[in-house]
Amino acid sequence: MKIKMSVLALATAAVFALSSLSSAFAEPIKLKFSHVVAENTPKGQMATKFKDLVAERLKGKVVVEIYPNGQLFGDNKVLEALLLGDVHLASPSLSKFKKYTKKLQIFDLPFLFNDMAAAERFQQSEAGQSLLKTVEKKGLIGLGYMHNGMKQLSAAKALHTPADAKGLKFRIMSSDVLAAQFEALAATPLKKPYSEVFTLLQTKAIDGQENTWSNIHSKKFYEVQDNITSSDHGLLDYMVVTSAEFWKGLPDDVRTELKKALDESIAFGNKVAAEKSKSDKQAIIDSKRTNVIELSKEERQKWIDTMQPVWKKFEAIVGKDMLDAAIASNKE
Ligand code: SIN
Repeated sequence: MKIKMSVLALATAAVFALSSLSSAFAEPIKLKFSHVVAENTPKGQMATKFKDLVAERLKGKVVVEIYPNGQLFGDNKVLEALLLGDVHLASPSLSKFKKYTKKLQIFDLPFLFNDMAAAERFQQSEAGQSLLKTVEKKGLIGLGYMHNGMKQLSAAKALHTPADAKGLKFRIMSSDVLAAQFEALAATPLKKPYSEVFTLLQTKAIDGQENTWSNIHSKKFYEVQDNITSSDHGLLDYMVVTSAEFWKGLPDDVRTELKKALDESIAFGNKVAAEKSKSDKQAIIDSKRTNVIELSKEERQKWIDTMQPVWKKFEAIVGKDMLDAAIASNKE
């Protein structure tokens, strides 16, 4: 009996020792973060910050690999790739979630937010936070919003008033609101991947596009567009997203630490975004490669009057209460 007991004790100790040994040598969890922009953009810098924080705080447990510039997946494929487990983190623009939820289309409505502070207030409000959850029924988890900034209009031709855009072809992200916005200008919208924009502009297959100062600068769109109208007519922000399967499968302590690192990285990225919307605009002006057009109050009002009727078309889809909450965020 005594012999039997000590054999059992030895076996238990051996199993315990082996399992601690195997966890000591366990492979770290690989977290692939895919995005489409350059590494020096707000999103690119947020991703690098996240990688660094994870390396510092979850050493040996998690390794972050970043795939920028659409190296691995374009935004139109990355959400599918998340669900298949081919990547684990992405942050597409809010305009690219149409297949997963129509509610995020609210963020594309032209002239909805007066400035980035209003967009931030709405995103952090109860209504804004509830929109993060709209992707959950499709197996995704919205971990937070991140800013890029306000969009500007660029074109071969100088755009002072909406009438100047008539008949021109503009590249847009895959959003029906953005399509309606350009149709309101009697222009032709073309949904094309971000990776194709430079070539489409360079070869004059399209006349113009809309984007933030940081994207126009980092992808050199200003080198192939003679004019950029400083219109601030819409928002280009992101949702950082993962798959429920991956996120819920993580050990609790790892998940908590990753979320903390991500929140800090987003706050850092938002600061970069605010700085870059000024410094990249200035760099573009200083380059003298393009003509940056500042609108008079009256000219801007014409853009608002032409584009804002688009809201009515999407009110039922995004919800009247949600729209009212977004409008209300313009007041501090
Ligand atoms: C991005 O900022 O992630 C890309 C935006 C675009 O497709 O224009």
